[in-house]
Amino acid sequence: MDILKALSEERAYSMTELQGIVSAWVLTGAFEGNGNSSVSTVDGHVDEADYTKQSVYSLLYSMFRSVGTVKSELGIPFQFEFNTWGYAWPEAWGPAPTRADEPQRFGKNAYTGLLHFDAIQKLVAERDGHVHLVEMGCGTGAGANHICTHVLPKCTYEAVDMQQAGVDTCRAQFAPRHRGRLVATRADATNLPIGDEVADIVLVNETHVTDQGEVMTEEDRKFFRSARRILKPGGFLSWGNAIPDMAWQPCFDFMESIGIEVLEVVDVTAEAVQARDEDAARIEVYIEQALDKFYGFRVPVFGTRKREEAAVAMKNLCRDPGTRLYDDMVTHADTYKVVLAQKKA
Ligand SMILES: C[S@@+](CC[C@H](N)C(=O)[O-])C[C@H]1O[C@@H](n2cnc3c(N)ncnc32)[C@H](O)[C@@H]1O
Repeated sequence: MDILKALSEERAYSMTELQGIVSAWVLTGAFEGNGNSSVSTVDGHVDEADYTKQSVYSLLYSMFRSVGTVKSELGIPFQFEFNTWGYAWPEAWGPAPTRADEPQRFGKNAYTGLLHFDAIQKLVAERDGHVHLVEMGCGTGAGANHICTHVLPKCTYEAVDMQQAGVDTCRAQFAPRHRGRLVATRADATNLPIGDEVADIVLVNETHVTDQGEVMTEEDRKFFRSARRILKPGGFLSWGNAIPDMAWQPCFDFMESIGIEVLEVVDVTAEAVQARDEDAARIEVYIEQALDKFYGFRVPVFGTRKREEAAVAMKNLCRDPGTRLYDDMVTHADTYKVVLAQKKA
């Protein structure tokens, strides 16, 4: 069982199924031999060719739901819902919208930050808050819920992700709180079942695209074309992510070429590194509590080895200090930017 490639984005896996999947993965360790795994136990790195995002996020979102509520390093209960690195709130943006003890504050900051731009605030004020948002790559919908509750309490919001498990969480946990204002749709963002020119604002928060360096993939190009198609003329695209620094300019050039003008770019890499430093203790206790739930990891030798691999891979996904992805942000090989763009009228 290759859990990095074998799972489907069309499925949400129950805890019983996850137990079987983990046990099967542990068993593969018996045939692998030392050092043959696709996860580096040094820094958690996994080569592009050794995983699919369909499988990895399917596993993560099913796991977040099945593991349920855990305690942060400060003993505060939370369910892991924001699959977001996020960043410490930049001082230049004024008072922080989150408290220092909130377990998922960096994800909340990232979503609030997408809407901090003056041009967006002006549009929202002109409409007395009645704006329609579409998010491309919403994960569990935790950010959608945060925005509908705390940032734009009069907006309507369509949250889209390719992962059934993420969409299920949004439908079960978040959408019912908003009485029809928040809907969750499972779709590939490159082929959205959404009409033309319906969105005032399109949000993209750490969606796993545009991360291949200097080369834009066909998926990346389709992604931006989709955003342009669903945006109203004059509507805004607000996009935050940490990606290879060299990947930004080709994206900006492509956006301009299809009629999306880049208006503002804010570099929050320093604040993103700070977030990872401050979040490390929470990530550590989350991973321990989550992995404790799986019987397969209790198998002597192979179970222990696979548990270490799972822990280091999860830390790398979180850009935890000591991992390859964290180092890439420290050296600015990867930069975290928050970008405001506008579809030309
Ligand atoms: C790092 S997660 C971020 C999730 C969420 N925005 C958050 O911040 O919690 C990346 C997400 O992008 C989604 N994604 C990547 N490519 C996609 C695509 N082509 N269509 C829809 N979703 C996509 C993945 O399924 C995953 O949920």
